[in-house]
Amino acid sequence: MTASRTDKPSCSIHVELGARSYSIVMRRDLLQDLGEELARLKCAGKVGIVTDRNLAKHYLTQVTRRLKAAGYSVVSIVLPAGERTKTLLSIGTVMDALVDARFERSSTLLALGGGVIGDITGFAAAIYQRGIPFVQVPTSLVAQVDSSVGGKTGVDHPKGKNLIGAFNQPRAVFIDPAMLSTLPPREWKAGLAEVIKYGVIADAAFFDYLERHIEAINHLTDDTVAHIVKRSCEIKAQVVSEDEREADRRRILNFGHTIGHALESLGGYRGFIHGEAVAVGMVYEADLARHLGYCGEEVVVRLRALVKAAGLPDRLPKVAFNALWAAMQQDKKVSAGTIYCVVPERIGAVRIIPLEKSQTRAWFQDVCARESGERKRAKPMGRAR
Ligand SMILES: NC(=O)c1ccc[n+]([C@@H]2O[C@H](COP(=O)([O-])OP(=O)(O)OC[C@H]3O[C@@H](n4cnc5c(N)ncnc54)[C@H](O)[C@@H]3O)[C@@H](O)[C@H]2O)c1
Ligand SMILES: [Zn+2]
Repeated sequence: MTASRTDKPSCSIHVELGARSYSIVMRRDLLQDLGEELARLKCAGKVGIVTDRNLAKHYLTQVTRRLKAAGYSVVSIVLPAGERTKTLLSIGTVMDALVDARFERSSTLLALGGGVIGDITGFAAAIYQRGIPFVQVPTSLVAQVDSSVGGKTGVDHPKGKNLIGAFNQPRAVFIDPAMLSTLPPREWKAGLAEVIKYGVIADAAFFDYLERHIEAINHLTDDTVAHIVKRSCEIKAQVVSEDEREADRRRILNFGHTIGHALESLGGYRGFIHGEAVAVGMVYEADLARHLGYCGEEVVVRLRALVKAAGLPDRLPKVAFNALWAAMQQDKKVSAGTIYCVVPERIGAVRIIPLEKSQTRAWFQDVCARESGERKRAKPMGRAR
């Protein structure tokens, strides 16, 4: 930690990617200094703020004023909120606005929003005039701990999520944890699923911390929020530095996502939101690992308890094995027809294994039998699950 100009505790995490390296700067109320931060990056001329209607309501006036005060000419592009905005149509809207405002190669895009806005803006910056600089100002917990770091950008296709895009690293990521205070509670919890994931895949001490502080985290106390965002960014930065384009190591970030993505797609993206599906996915991928002998029961027990304590769903919805398996096969992480799954060996360490259909079916039948037994035992007591 270093003292900032404003004397607020500030931290900077370096993402090492050679010529594409950048910093994640995190500070409470950093939003007030965005103009100075952009000047420090030597951004000049025009800045295009891409945001959504929710964020515009809370922050656009303030951010625009700060940037203008620092001498920037500002154009804002406000899109509807939500995943349905993450399309090529929105990219067209951004392109039109940039052309109309005569943006140049040296102009900058600023993503003010959650993962949807960050992914759109990064992709727009990759293709406008073959590439202009962009910075991330992530506003949701998912965006602060995950999507703003690592350079995956893009939009959805009607036939699949994130099918169109580019690797494009930002010039910087500016995180102001104070912005999380306006985030809807369901979105906050969804972000916690990704935070818990970092503990499981890379840091047992961080997982312990989450277990010990979950009450304070649920109440968004400043120091716990700052710690979980910082540690999550450090882990993501480290993993991305080791494997920018997901050839190998970066795949560990997909823990919980093999089953999670399948549940999202089976629900037609109208049931669980992403983080909720990942929470259930983590619990059941850990249980699959236990079944296959990769980890002990205690991993599943601790993970389920933490997921529940964070207010996230921890139970598989009613689903048939064949439907689940088929949805798992749709995932982008499938290679030559084989489904690869990240499984824990213990809290803090994972490995990637190919899944075999018959073994996975046997595990699934075991889960169904166990859970139906639990439901029957719970009924006489009059307790519904
Ligand atoms: N690029 C990556 O590596 C990566 C990683 C993870 C997720 N993603 C993508 O990120 C998206 C999910 O991100 P998300 O969960 O941030 O979704 P989102 O951008 O849709 O934001 C969720 C909701 O919260 C609102 N919101 C965000 N910040 C707010 C704030 N501070 N105050 C009030 N409202 C706020 C938004 O308007 C939106 O309605 C998905 O499209 C996913 O594919 C990308
Ligand atoms: Zn995720």
